[in-house]
Amino acid sequence: MTIFHKSTSIGFIGAGAVGGSLSVALHNAGYPVLAVASRTHASAETFAARIPGCTPYRSFQKLTDSVGFVFITTSDDAIGAVCDSVRWREGQAVAHCSGAASLDSLQGAVEAGAASGAFHPLQAFSSVEEGVQNIPGTTFGIEAGPELHDYLEQMALDIGGNPIFLRPEDKVLYHISGVLMGNLLSVLASVAASVWPKFDRSRDEGIHALTPMMVAAARNMDANGVPQGVAGPYPRGDLGTIRKHLEALSASAPEYLPLYCELALAGLPFAVEKGALKPELADEIAEIVKSYR
Ligand SMILES: NC(=O)c1ccc[n+]([C@@H]2O[C@H](COP(=O)([O-])OP(=O)(O)OC[C@H]3O[C@@H](n4cnc5c(N)ncnc54)[C@H](OP(=O)(O)O)[C@@H]3O)[C@@H](O)[C@H]2O)c1
Repeated sequence: MTIFHKSTSIGFIGAGAVGGSLSVALHNAGYPVLAVASRTHASAETFAARIPGCTPYRSFQKLTDSVGFVFITTSDDAIGAVCDSVRWREGQAVAHCSGAASLDSLQGAVEAGAASGAFHPLQAFSSVEEGVQNIPGTTFGIEAGPELHDYLEQMALDIGGNPIFLRPEDKVLYHISGVLMGNLLSVLASVAASVWPKFDRSRDEGIHALTPMMVAAARNMDANGVPQGVAGPYPRGDLGTIRKHLEALSASAPEYLPLYCELALAGLPFAVEKGALKPELADEIAEIVKSYR
């Protein structure tokens, strides 16, 4: 069995936000990131310019031949085709960073004798600069066999991450929780900011005003957990305020009423679990909310 270790040379195919951020974090942690290739050569050149000693390749095959370990950090849909487009060799390894894709997309490499893994950062990446800053403290969902188990675990630790191992059957639910937080939370923030134009304030002003609340709510949840971090008029059982919200939304922003109602209903069991709301009052609130849904 090939041993992968900190001096194994690493290459990236896919020079976007995740590949760019991870490569810089690995380089800073002492891992040799020596090669990159991407769909657009200019992206590979920008990537390589951040890392001393990293060569931008035009050919995926030449990149693959030049390193021991390859990260495929393309869009999810391209992973399988990119993997199948190159010849792998025994003793080599390949991993993707997708939370949704299974290891099946790397099967072509495995059939050629390479090891495969998944190394998914449970984090939102929009730029390399922010991505590098956000990696410390990020959880990495890892799928790997014995060949890559210790290597990927140590890699996550070396860049300040928190490694967790996932079984293939855990992957979709794990990814859903990440999408609810990283993606759908930003949709919720967009909806919250979109209420501001209803009282003649811009959406931009709204999101700037609401972001500190979002940050404080995140800190509160991290510090106090579920359900203690749950707060607001619902756990308080403020029926008067709740009725006013439902009326105002019906009148001024009916497009957001179903979402508001679903979230309010989803929150009631946590408020009861917290001990803040009596089950009878939770039932009463649920009936009222459902009547507006
Ligand atoms: N963004 C996130 O928040 C996030 C979080 C966790 C995991 N991930 C995962 O990380 C992976 C990369 O996501 P990303 O956000 O970094 O995407 P991204 O910013 O869109 O970057 C993808 C990169 O791959 C290149 N590429 C696309 N198709 C290609 C192909 N067929 N062959 C070669 N290169 C190709 C792109 O093209 P160019 O060469 O034209 O630039 C781009 O540089 C995905 O598996 C994603 O699920 C993303």
